[in-house]
Amino acid sequence: MIRHFASYSLLPHNTFGMDVKAAHFVEFTEVGDVLRIASELGGMRHLVIGGGSNLLFMGDFDGVVMHSAIKTIEVLGENESSVFVRVGSGVNWDEFVAYSVAQGWQGLENLSAIPGEVGASAVQNVGAYGVEAGDFIVKVDAVSLKGCCTVSFLNDDCCYAYRDSIFKNDEKDKYVITHVIFRLNKIPQYVLSYGNLKEQCEAKGGVTAANIRDAVCKTRAAKLPDPAVMGSAGSFFMNPVVEPAKADELKALYPSMPVYPAPNGVKLSAGWLIDRCGWKERSDARVGVYPHQALVIVNLGGATGREVMDFAHRIQQSVQEKFGVSISPEVNAIE
Ligand code: EPU
Repeated sequence: MIRHFASYSLLPHNTFGMDVKAAHFVEFTEVGDVLRIASELGGMRHLVIGGGSNLLFMGDFDGVVMHSAIKTIEVLGENESSVFVRVGSGVNWDEFVAYSVAQGWQGLENLSAIPGEVGASAVQNVGAYGVEAGDFIVKVDAVSLKGCCTVSFLNDDCCYAYRDSIFKNDEKDKYVITHVIFRLNKIPQYVLSYGNLKEQCEAKGGVTAANIRDAVCKTRAAKLPDPAVMGSAGSFFMNPVVEPAKADELKALYPSMPVYPAPNGVKLSAGWLIDRCGWKERSDARVGVYPHQALVIVNLGGATGREVMDFAHRIQQSVQEKFGVSISPEVNAIE
């Protein structure tokens, strides 16, 4: 079923709380719907939206915003160690994580309480507490907007990396994801490398997926704003990856600076860098830095996308001046 709305408010569809409108908003529940939408799109400007938790609208969107309402969760098969699950792109991410933990399917519990939907998780390669969605994605089913046909991407085709995939680069805006196929563990392989996750679980009686989920939910609630209360898009910036020599130089000057090994260099903590520039708890009229996590920019009420971007540029400049490190937004600004 396709639902079409003209001059549609995107306020409930972006966690930053931008009060903007889409010229057209279409919601679909079937693959066939997406094929039809693709064939009728012509040259119209378009945007596929999930939970709107990683977007910053700079103004009204003069085109077609597409939103998946495909909400099926289907077990495709299993073997001794794994279960294969095909999930509709419109399923709320955290509802899927909760469901998988309840079914005894292990793997996604570290990714609890992340806002957004399943389709976007495959674009964004959402990650937290030592785990990334791409670690569990086997295949992504999509509709090609150009070819008006269905197409599948295997995990390798998706080129998953830190907060990155082919859907953010070469294949940006070319596909509508309809389903994501996950492989989850029946034999647990918990990831407890982050902070005091292990201690938190032990205090609750042991390491289980449910206890990890509980600990992650508590950690996130303490560090990150609830979008229902305060507009934000979670981390505004990505953690920068620098040359090892640059990391060594900074580490000599700031011995307490967190550093993490990364495939192509050394990853620094953008939150730490921003914090040390004195941004925590700083705000302008309607935009501020979240007091518990400097990586998060918040809409204090009625801010425009432009105000948020100007504020973010000032943060980038001060990190560049103090540390000589360039930080890039993770948030996708939509002009
Ligand atoms: N730190 C500070 N001050 C701050 C924030 C952080 O000193 O204001 C320090 C912390 O003390 C810690 C280090 O920086 O030593 C890293 O902080 P944290 O553990 O909070 O993680 P992060 O690197 O800032 C990333 C993700 C989060 C994810 C956490 C946990 C990115 C862009 N962000 O944040 O993801 O929850 O790790 O794995 O990679 C999101 O994407 O929206 C998000 C919240």
